[in-house]
Amino acid sequence: MPEVEIRNVTKRFGDIIAVDNVSLHVHDREYFALLGPSGCGKTTLLRLIAGLIKPDEGEIYIDGKLVNDVPPEDRGVGFVFQTFALFPHMNVWDNVTYGPRVKGWGEEKAARIAHEALEMVLLHERLDAYPNELSGGMMQRVAVARALCAGAKLLLLDEPLGQLDAKVRNQLRYEIRRMAKDLGLTAIHVTHDQAEAMAISDRIAVMRKGKILQVGTPQELYIKPKHIFVANFIGEANFLEGYVKEIKKNHSIVEIRGGIRIKIADKTFKRGERVVLAVRPETTIIEIGKARENNYINGKIERLRFEGTNVRYEIRLENEDEIVAIRPSMTEEWLDVGEKVVVHLPMNKIYVFPYPSKGLREELSVE
Ligand SMILES: Nc1ncnc2c1ncn2[C@@H]1O[C@H](COP(=O)(O)OP(=O)(O)O)[C@@H](O)[C@H]1O
Ligand SMILES: [Mg+2]
Repeated sequence: MPEVEIRNVTKRFGDIIAVDNVSLHVHDREYFALLGPSGCGKTTLLRLIAGLIKPDEGEIYIDGKLVNDVPPEDRGVGFVFQTFALFPHMNVWDNVTYGPRVKGWGEEKAARIAHEALEMVLLHERLDAYPNELSGGMMQRVAVARALCAGAKLLLLDEPLGQLDAKVRNQLRYEIRRMAKDLGLTAIHVTHDQAEAMAISDRIAVMRKGKILQVGTPQELYIKPKHIFVANFIGEANFLEGYVKEIKKNHSIVEIRGGIRIKIADKTFKRGERVVLAVRPETTIIEIGKARENNYINGKIERLRFEGTNVRYEIRLENEDEIVAIRPSMTEEWLDVGEKVVVHLPMNKIYVFPYPSKGLREELSVE
């Protein structure tokens, strides 16, 4: 059964460390996402697993077997590339059944599996079409169907939905997951789209600059981000810089710009320590009124954006910091630009991080 274990793997291209001492365990039949901004090493890691390139250091195990020296064709992986790689001279049917046929499954079994896969990707009515007669989205669906049919137990997908328009993308991502689950495959799905990763993955590894920052279920990453970058990349967050001023019995006090005092539940930080507070826009509460106690800050609505489900308010706080709050558009009354509000940051919804050594801006950058 295909579980994948990566131990201390490093891959360099000249001076660039594309994958930097990565360790990772993908379980059998898991739908796993590698998520991170462009250039963080996702494709390189996938190609290492596929065997298309070799690590400079470290070991890769598939099914408990060391595969560092095993060629790609003997690793039992199906690869779906960012750009579709179909045979241009073959129609959809021949492209999809190529894998099963060359594997010697026999016509009947090959046909059954291919029909099923093509139905799953909604292309069962285009069996005779050639790649140049299909849209980009359709070609990619053929590529997915072909990988599913190739008999691989480990499916590696490199931004498989990247070329598709939003509607097709949203539909197809659930389809791919369902197919992988139905067929009992292990899938490693590379994407830079956090919403996509959240929607379909059992677990996600968030990557940045060749390293894995955090691995967890979508819920874990969203509710308990362990890094500033993760808090910002999975969902959205407001960041406020400050210093720990007081340690009390059940909470601590952080002072942010303008001497504003914020109570935090976290007590792992020492007095005087420089910290970053993070609060999600959806847990940033805005009310009409004036600040009277800790965690309430006066502000003024500077901008308002209607986003469909939510209204997004950009608020200038009295200390000049900026903060974003979102409220459901249908169930909450809309507030006006220019309106004076009080922003409430509930203590148990605040994440606290040590101030990053290279500064907050650098820590958040997706470069
Ligand atoms: N064949 C290569 N030769 C030189 N540099 C490469 C090569 N492949 C990737 N890189 C570099 O390695 C880093 C990671 O690239 P990649 O794995 O493609 O990132 P991602 O897929 O996350 O966008 C980038 O800086 C990229 O320019
Ligand atoms: Mg890539």
